[in-house]
Amino acid sequence: CGIVGYVGPRKVVPVVLEGLRRLEYRGYDSAGVVYLQDGALVKYRAEGKLINLENRIGDAIVAPSHLGLGHTRWATHGAPTEKNAHPHSDCTGDLVVVHNGIIENYHSLREDLKAKGHIFNSETDTEVLAHLIEEHLSDDLVAAVKAALKEVEGSFALGVLWAKAPDMLVAARNQSPLVLGVSDDQGSFMASDIPALLPYTDQVVFLDDMELAVIRENSYSVQSLLTGEEVDKVVQFIEWNAAMAEKAGYKHFMLKEIYEQPQAITNTLSGRINAETGEVSIPELNLQGADFDKIDRIFLVACGTSWHAALVAKYWIEKYANIPVDVDIASEFRYRHLLINERVMTIAISQSGETADTLAGIRIAKKMGSKVVTICNVVGSTMTRESDGTVYTHAGPEIGVASTKAFTAQLAALFLFTIYVAQQKKTISKEKGVELGRALIGISSVIEKELPRIQDQISRLIESFYDARDFLFVGRGLSFPIALEGALKLKEISYIHAEGYASGELKHGPIALIDKDMPILALVPQDDVYQKSISNVEEIKARLGRLILIGTEGDTHLQNITDDIIYMPNVHEDMNPIMYTIPAQLLSYEIATRRGCDVDQPRNLAKSVTVE
Ligand code: G6P
Repeated sequence: CGIVGYVGPRKVVPVVLEGLRRLEYRGYDSAGVVYLQDGALVKYRAEGKLINLENRIGDAIVAPSHLGLGHTRWATHGAPTEKNAHPHSDCTGDLVVVHNGIIENYHSLREDLKAKGHIFNSETDTEVLAHLIEEHLSDDLVAAVKAALKEVEGSFALGVLWAKAPDMLVAARNQSPLVLGVSDDQGSFMASDIPALLPYTDQVVFLDDMELAVIRENSYSVQSLLTGEEVDKVVQFIEWNAAMAEKAGYKHFMLKEIYEQPQAITNTLSGRINAETGEVSIPELNLQGADFDKIDRIFLVACGTSWHAALVAKYWIEKYANIPVDVDIASEFRYRHLLINERVMTIAISQSGETADTLAGIRIAKKMGSKVVTICNVVGSTMTRESDGTVYTHAGPEIGVASTKAFTAQLAALFLFTIYVAQQKKTISKEKGVELGRALIGISSVIEKELPRIQDQISRLIESFYDARDFLFVGRGLSFPIALEGALKLKEISYIHAEGYASGELKHGPIALIDKDMPILALVPQDDVYQKSISNVEEIKARLGRLILIGTEGDTHLQNITDDIIYMPNVHEDMNPIMYTIPAQLLSYEIATRRGCDVDQPRNLAKSVTVE
């Protein structure tokens, strides 16, 4: 979910709506706005996307109000209806709450409150918070919020507005992200994520778990919910600007972000590789004294697309840094019996740095003595604050729900990290370091040059595939995780059922699916498993599968197998995962737009999943 709050000299409704628009990637099941006008609260809510809310607000957009809250929802408890949309009110209607997270004990709290006479209007866990605060409220809103939160179990990022405290908003956080925006003349803000603040300020204050903040037009204060003591927070400056989170003439954020990949990779590598000596430096890794010879095992922990980046990194790290790597889906990692000690390094990979399962995973690993590193795209996000070291991907804000540039930037950062560890451990020669560093630096310009051609070829090719019901993606070695990523992209944005497999695994089951109607995209770069991949492709051909091959420029053998071939330039073998991701992304994009799908906001998904 996305939260926005504002108090300041501007009219509040446009500020809140613009903020919600910029946070809509966090959820778009329903949305709502509340503001204070002439001593009373005015509330608008609507089911579905933000546009429905905007239509409902209509002329009220110019309401002379300077204090308000907004919310865009990704449903957890209660269906995505207007009645369940935030803000939620107490019995008096003077107090409203917007919330992101899950109140785990909401059921018993709700029963208690009902017994005390509170009447509930929704099925949400959030509404309990409004009534619980009301129960504690006499004339001090902050004291009432604190008392209520003492009774609450679960995660929350919270914005509270009370008509009788007309100059302030209260914010609180536990395990769901919340950031304050501060400025000299624009007023004060709260939001779930930075893009909502970018049009107004570049100065932000990240709240930590169990902190409460009060924002007023010209001031803010933060206190600990545990001790009640004032906390001195650091104001951080954000280098992103508002235009970076806009479409810049592209039809969709996703397409813009696909085309931004060369720049995202270049920015991620900038200043980190010495082109002459190949030497890698990652100062913010902050692992001074970390002796990689004392690391026996690495755990890579992530969700979704970031997990696919982890699968690629396993091949690289084991090959060059000679350290065994386990790759875990964070929601599995956090609940299984882990064999972790101080000789284990845990690396979280997360675009947002806020994904609940991944965050829980690193907390557990840290407790067990592991050093924790996060590969992350959002400066100052929770995971970066809780890790021993961070490698930032400098991909810029990613708005499309389906991850693209964040993924290839993660791959670049992970390859960079691999070279770094291998150099520290001296498991590669100096010459190899130079070779790998140059290959990595060089990949951006190759992608930049090839992108329009690949898109053009794919847009023509998909005419015979866009109405498929199922799709298989296959690859071996470094291409296997890219097959998984291609399948995920396609199902996310086109709703075509798609599966990714290791090519060699086809004969153990999935081959039964293949007939003349089944499209199969096979990644067949001329790498060290090329011959094996070709054998697998022949097996598909023998069963009349409709093959699309993505292979190496000049590989004429592929033309004996199918007419549908997209050729990739011959890049360094280790760069194939980055290169081959591009056609997989574009295939999904072209098919989804051809089918008329909303590629930036696919149904049921949210970009940043800060609940379990
Ligand atoms: C959500 C998004 C995915 C993303 C995953 C992990 O499911 O829809 O695109 O890969 O979360 O997000 P993270 O921010 O941790 O990389």
